[in-house]
Amino acid sequence: MASNGGVDLADVPSVDLMTELLRRMKCQSKPDKRLILIGPPGSGKGTQSPIIKDEYCLCHLATGDMLRAAVAAKTPLGVKAKEAMDKGELVSDDLVVGIIDEAMKKPSCQKGFILDGFPRTVVQAEKLDDMLQKKGVKVDKVLNFAIDDTILEERITGRWIHLPSGRSYHSKFAPPKIPEIDDVTGEPLIQRKDDTAAVLKSRLEAFHRQTEPVIDYYTKKGIVAELHAEKPPKEVTAEVQKALS
Ligand code: AP5
Repeated sequence: MASNGGVDLADVPSVDLMTELLRRMKCQSKPDKRLILIGPPGSGKGTQSPIIKDEYCLCHLATGDMLRAAVAAKTPLGVKAKEAMDKGELVSDDLVVGIIDEAMKKPSCQKGFILDGFPRTVVQAEKLDDMLQKKGVKVDKVLNFAIDDTILEERITGRWIHLPSGRSYHSKFAPPKIPEIDDVTGEPLIQRKDDTAAVLKSRLEAFHRQTEPVIDYYTKKGIVAELHAEKPPKEVTAEVQKALS
C-alpha cells in the first residue's frame, strides 16, 4: 500500500480515509482564495482562522506558530528567533519570508491560503507580492481585525493553548470544560511565554510602528475589509463571512 510521509495508508482507519476523500471532493467546488489576516495580538486572528480554513479548504499559515515550533525543537531557525520573540519584537524579515515561501508549497495550500501574522512589515508585504507574482497569483482579500488596545490585555493574559493542535481557549471568553485541560485530548494546556502584560506592551508597539503601514499598503490596492474585532467571536465570524462572500 502507498505510504505518505512515513504513514502507511493501510494503517489509516477506513472511516478516516473516507472522511478525507469526501472533504476533498467537497473542496473541488470551492473557489481559490488567498487571504491575509492582520490585527494586533489578541485581536482574534487565530480564533477565526480554523473556521475560514474549513469553510474554504485553505491552508492556515501562522508564522507565530511555526516560529514557536522551531523554538521548541531548538532548530537553527528557532535559536535565531527566540530572543526577539521573548521580548515581543519582530524576528528578521528574511527568516519569516523563507518559512512562508517553503510552507506555501504544501499540498494543503492548493486551493489557497490564510496568512495569519504575515506580512508584518512593508518589506515582507513586498516580498510576498514578488513570491506570488512568480506563481501568477495575487492576494484576494486582507481582513483587518480592528480593535482598541485597551481590550487586548484581558484577552492575552487569559489565553490558554493546546500546543500540539494549536487549539486556543480563554479562561473567561472560551473556557475549556476542565480548567487548563484540552477538551479533545485531555492533555494539559499552556500559557505562552510572551502572553504577559509587560511583553504585550512591546508587541503592541511593534504592531503600531511596523505592521499598521502594511494595512495602508493593501488599502491602496483596494482589498482591505475592516472587521469590528471587539465583538463576540460569533459576530466576528459573521462579519468575516460577509467580507468573503
Ligand atoms: P503571533 O503568534 O503571530 O502572535 P500575535 O500576532 O501577537 O497574535 P496572537 O496569536 O497573540 O493573537 P490572535 O489575534 O491570534 O488572538 P487569538 O485568536 O488567539 O506572533 C508571536 C511572535 O512571533 C511575534 O511577537 C514575533 O516575535 C514573531 N513573529 C510572528 N510572525 C512574524 C512575522 N511575520 N515577522 C516577524 N516576526 C514574527 O485570541 C486571543 C484570545 O482572545 C484567545 O484566548 C481567544 O479565545 C480570545 N478571543 C478571540 N476572539 C475573541 C472575541 N471576539 N471575543 C472575546 N475573546 C476572544
